[in-house]
Amino acid sequence: MTGLLEGKVAIITGAASGIGKATTELFTAEGAKVLAVDLPGSPLNDVHGNDANVSCLEQDVTGEGAADTIVGAALEAFGKIDILFNNAGTVGQGGEVESHDEADWMFVTELNLHSMYRITKAAIPELKKSGAGRIVNVGSIRSEFADSGAAAYTTTKHGVAGLTKVLAVELGQHGITANFVQPGAILTGITEPAFAAMPEYGEYWKNRASTGRLGLPEDIANAVLYLSSDEASFVSGIGLMIDGGATSHF
Ligand SMILES: NC(=O)c1ccc[n+]([C@@H]2O[C@H](COP(=O)([O-])OP(=O)(O)OC[C@H]3O[C@@H](n4cnc5c(N)ncnc54)[C@H](O)[C@@H]3O)[C@@H](O)[C@H]2O)c1
Repeated sequence: MTGLLEGKVAIITGAASGIGKATTELFTAEGAKVLAVDLPGSPLNDVHGNDANVSCLEQDVTGEGAADTIVGAALEAFGKIDILFNNAGTVGQGGEVESHDEADWMFVTELNLHSMYRITKAAIPELKKSGAGRIVNVGSIRSEFADSGAAAYTTTKHGVAGLTKVLAVELGQHGITANFVQPGAILTGITEPAFAAMPEYGEYWKNRASTGRLGLPEDIANAVLYLSSDEASFVSGIGLMIDGGATSHF
């Protein structure tokens, strides 16, 4: 059986854990070749090193030069880029605006938003050549809603929504779609320590989801697969909420 991404080449950032790991595994199972990017010292090679369809790049996505290194590595490994999944991100230390640590604010915005802009900018010329380029960014339920205590995170995830819509408008003429996923509470490297330390926090999100469970990385990976496929060629500029119904409550 032919996979949904047969012949496609994807870049996936934050690929060693959680949503990025699950998406990398799903993409190769569906026929794609993946440049998997994660931090030096992350378990990237342990996780994907045995998959012949994955090329691992230990590279921090932040900072000047990272974007060109990532795009260059994808071209060197596979000769083209069809799909960019901008997934690497952080919650940071959190806090309200009045008390937010400025260094943490800069760290979160650099990782969650500025690096996404730079990598996308560097990949656009290659995505244009694809004829069916796909950009999928990771937002959050906090791309649409806010609560107190996560000021920088919420601001950047709203920024992801804006950036993605701009990309959809600018790049549609080149056959490129741009969309973002909006995970609810998903069990990953980011949330598991918090849920372990504060079980009531996990219970809250589990009960809030009308489906009665927390999300799994595969729940998001399946949506990213659809948005990256040829089947989604008329879907662009949207945020896809994947939260088990949690934000349907008022
Ligand atoms: N887990 C959730 O409930 C949830 C909810 C909404 C949005 N998200 C978003 O999902 C994305 C993935 O997070 P996750 O939940 O899978 O967490 P995770 O911690 O399991 O995975 C994130 C990966 O990104 C990597 N990473 C972090 N900083 C990096 C950098 N500077 N350069 C390269 N790689 C880096 C980490 O090493 C890690 O492997 C993030 O953007 C996050 O904001 C997660």
